[in-house]
Amino acid sequence: MNGSEKSLQERIETHIAELERFTATPGRGTTRLTYSPQDLGARAYLKERMREYGLDVREDGFGNLFGKREGTIEGAPSVLIGSHFDSVPNGGAYDGPAGVIAGLEVARLFAENGTRHAYPLEVFALIEEEGARFPGGLMGSRAMLGVLSKEEFARQTDKDGVTTIEAMRAAGLDPSLPGRREQGSIKAYLELHIEQGPLLEDSGIPVGVVDAIVGLAQVQITVKGRAGHAGTTPMNRRSDALVAASRIVAQLPDAAEGEEESTVVTVGRLNVFPNGANVIPDRVVFTVDLRSGAEEHVRSVLAKTKELALAAAGDGIEVEIEDQLYIAPKRMDESVRALLREKSGALGIAHRPISSGAGHDAMIFADFTAAGMLFVPSRDGLSHCPEEWTDAAHIADAVRIFHEAARALTEAE
Ligand code: GLV
Ligand code: MN
Ligand code: MN
Repeated sequence: MNGSEKSLQERIETHIAELERFTATPGRGTTRLTYSPQDLGARAYLKERMREYGLDVREDGFGNLFGKREGTIEGAPSVLIGSHFDSVPNGGAYDGPAGVIAGLEVARLFAENGTRHAYPLEVFALIEEEGARFPGGLMGSRAMLGVLSKEEFARQTDKDGVTTIEAMRAAGLDPSLPGRREQGSIKAYLELHIEQGPLLEDSGIPVGVVDAIVGLAQVQITVKGRAGHAGTTPMNRRSDALVAASRIVAQLPDAAEGEEESTVVTVGRLNVFPNGANVIPDRVVFTVDLRSGAEEHVRSVLAKTKELALAAAGDGIEVEIEDQLYIAPKRMDESVRALLREKSGALGIAHRPISSGAGHDAMIFADFTAAGMLFVPSRDGLSHCPEEWTDAAHIADAVRIFHEAARALTEAE
């Protein structure tokens, strides 16, 4: 490892440590909800680094952040590179930030080398990929590409009923800024992400070139019953929303296990109302997240989920189902994958193909532009938890590959 390589690794470690400070749960992982004080802190840090690396900083009307290095062709479409900077509750320091940092460090290498290029390079840091505050996830990319209209975006509320627009204004962000990004303004999309699974570590290979991302759907199910006294209401006179919801939840694993093995289903959020120890629950609201590498299985488990949820209705129980997200499995662009393989090979960095079981903004961009992703190993395959950790040396490998790929993609044809 030469001197400048070591300092790239150190810079990556510094960025991770600096961003990690912006958490609502110090000592219990990263909790950085969109438009929260922690978002604002991380945002300020990223803007500062963007300016330091010679980028023109801009926010859009959704709070997505961009840093642009102009090329020689005026008005030409940009090569985008980055990831998201929100987190799940009590998550890790790498899911999202690793990719934003990779974008920043590629831009720094362009600046350091005085690279001349025809097409602009644009580093991005997107909001709300995780869906931890607002429904559905992938919100920054869906909004900026018009998959979620400005009006639909404005209607989204968090669990406390606060709308996106109210939350942006409270954070001092400006929802009236331009938001929608024209398809013709993007030439290619690159995203580095931690693998979040064990395959790279187990195979001892530092870089995965992503071939495809699973299809995923999320629904929110509301089960309504009747509240009552826990001590005085006989069992045969109850319409207990939690008992009904539990029956639905308990059947979901079987619904997924009947499909091929990449098919998974998760109930990760469940709220019981009124949530009193001696009150029969009258309302339960929970999410179902289901995924598969093949769209037919996503559709099939989605249909089974709705069927068994609706079957729980009756005897004073009502069930409502709200579709919150549906995305078919997406393949990454073949020419970008070939470029990433070529540059990894030229740099002597071992790589392998890999599929993603996690959702990424790249799934949205793949419908609009040539999108490609690299994965780097996650220690013990852990992610979405405080223990999440990735070796900065592997992130540095990915930066070097992306630097070469971005140079090629920003060159005149
Ligand atoms: C994002 O991490 C997702 O896979 O939902
Ligand atoms: Mn995540
Ligand atoms: Mn992520």
